[in-house]
Amino acid sequence: MTQEQLSSIILPKHIGIIMDGNGRWATRRGLERSEGHKAGANAFRRICDYGADLGIEYMTFYAFSTENWRRPPKEVAAIMKLFRDYLEEANEREKENESRGLRFHLIGERKGLPSDIISRLDTLEKNSADKKVMTVNLAINYGGRDEIVHAFRELARKAKNGAVNPDKITEEDIADNLFTAGQPDPDLIIRPSGEYRLSNFMTWQSAYSEFWFSDILWPDFTTDDLDRAILDYCHRNRRFGGV
Ligand code: IPE
Ligand code: IPE
Ligand code: MG
Repeated sequence: MTQEQLSSIILPKHIGIIMDGNGRWATRRGLERSEGHKAGANAFRRICDYGADLGIEYMTFYAFSTENWRRPPKEVAAIMKLFRDYLEEANEREKENESRGLRFHLIGERKGLPSDIISRLDTLEKNSADKKVMTVNLAINYGGRDEIVHAFRELARKAKNGAVNPDKITEEDIADNLFTAGQPDPDLIIRPSGEYRLSNFMTWQSAYSEFWFSDILWPDFTTDDLDRAILDYCHRNRRFGGV
């Protein structure tokens, strides 16, 4: 995006990306699916840094859903190894003070993830907590419905001990008990790979999101594609039920 374009638009505050199409990318090249995930992880690095350069405040990357455990153990293990490698690298960048000012936040169930990944995530969240350029939500072991169940349990507990009046529960109370508490809803949700569904991504938060679909497979997703999505978004007329 040129400086001129950038200064003439209002950027989305929060962009969500469903990083889909890794497996097909690999299969089309006669490679193992795990190679597609590796290429997808590099696309994530590229797009995440570019989002921060543009001045996006929040980006959410859907990396592993609560349903993705249904995949063959070998594929799940390959994906977990990529998380391990990335988290190691991001923690190293924090330590060396080479981060681009990214504040990392896990959205997803810690329970169920390998313990060494949880501890790497905890370290990264802790060490990047004061960073201000962009918040990066890593949606790992994430499900939109699971997140809502989580919020229900939290509110039910509070109702039981008297901290919450069930008749007074508001939309804000629910939002405050999601993994994204305190963050704005995604303005723009991007799904590549030619699928037209959310696959359990940000079920609550996407009520008024704008969607951008494309046939590009995630490993091929470029900074120009992100520009295109953002520029399209800028021409949408968001009415939120008004006129
Ligand atoms: C997305 O790519 C990565 C994960 C869901 C972990 P896929 O692995 O779903 O790629 P396709 O959809 O099979 O091409
Ligand atoms: C959605 O992709 C989940 C992630 C990208 C992490 P899937 O490939 O799992 O979605 P479906 O199964 O095609 O709906
Ligand atoms: Mg897929």
